[in-house]
Amino acid sequence: MDRANRLRLSRDGTLAGDVETLGRLLASARRVVALTGAGLSVESGVPGFRSPGGLWSVFDPMEYATLSCFLRSPAKAWELYRALGASIAGREPNAGHRALARLEREGLLAGIVTQNIDGLHRAAGSETVIEIHGEGRNLECTVCRAIEPLLAAHLEPGPPPRCAACGSPLKPNVVLFEEPVREMARARALVAGASAMLVVGTSAEVAPAGSLPGDVLEGGGSLVEFNLAPTRRTEAGLGPSGFFVEGPAGRTLPAVVDAALEARAREMP
Ligand code: APR
Repeated sequence: MDRANRLRLSRDGTLAGDVETLGRLLASARRVVALTGAGLSVESGVPGFRSPGGLWSVFDPMEYATLSCFLRSPAKAWELYRALGASIAGREPNAGHRALARLEREGLLAGIVTQNIDGLHRAAGSETVIEIHGEGRNLECTVCRAIEPLLAAHLEPGPPPRCAACGSPLKPNVVLFEEPVREMARARALVAGASAMLVVGTSAEVAPAGSLPGDVLEGGGSLVEFNLAPTRRTEAGLGPSGFFVEGPAGRTLPAVVDAALEARAREMP
């Protein structure tokens, strides 16, 4: 990647690199959308899945996080769900979530497709949020499709909670492996025609969310990736005006959003 298109957080907390050009790109883009992943919530205290100490280093996802595991042994699957529930309970949005909410409020972000189930985008005030992996605030019944709120008591050890309507074991209202993602048509419609996509805190390795950045590139748009370190996506290319912004998203996103709003203010007659 062109060094000019790389920004890095310096020790004094400012972004080193051509942040003005990035600000202008976002301020003048026809349509900006965001794809977010676990990395954005790390600074809220929710660990990433694939990071050291993340959930997938403790629970093999193919053994605990599949639909067939839940159907075969709800009690075993609930060992993972309790750890997942505990990891998101009581978490608050961080400055990165708030920066995206501000960008939308200011009319410079059309919406967010998120793989996160922690609800922190909505808590930060974002309105168009497509949660393609579901959400962790409720439980669902895979038999009668009833939805019930997740209660603190459900995270305590004990037998899996059962559906009040039909008595079947409940699972969190999240997408397990082997289940289709939610609202993918709406996500594709949001992303279609985007001239820029902010790809924040995701390894973008899990399908089909991982294919959305490629859709933007095919449509002639560019990617602005926010991550602690380059990913396979960075290596594969970020498009004609793409940027890689290195550092914690809770620090880098607010700086880039400030730059976009300043660029717009400068361009206003
Ligand atoms: N700021 C920016 N990026 C960060 C930060 C941070 N503070 N902390 C970590 N990251 C980056 C990591 O470098 C990594 O590239 O966030 C990314 C997190 O990647 P994953 O843990 O793979 O999370 P994600 O991409 O959201 O996973 C996608 O996979 O297991 C499934 O359903 C699960 O939704 C999840 C999906």
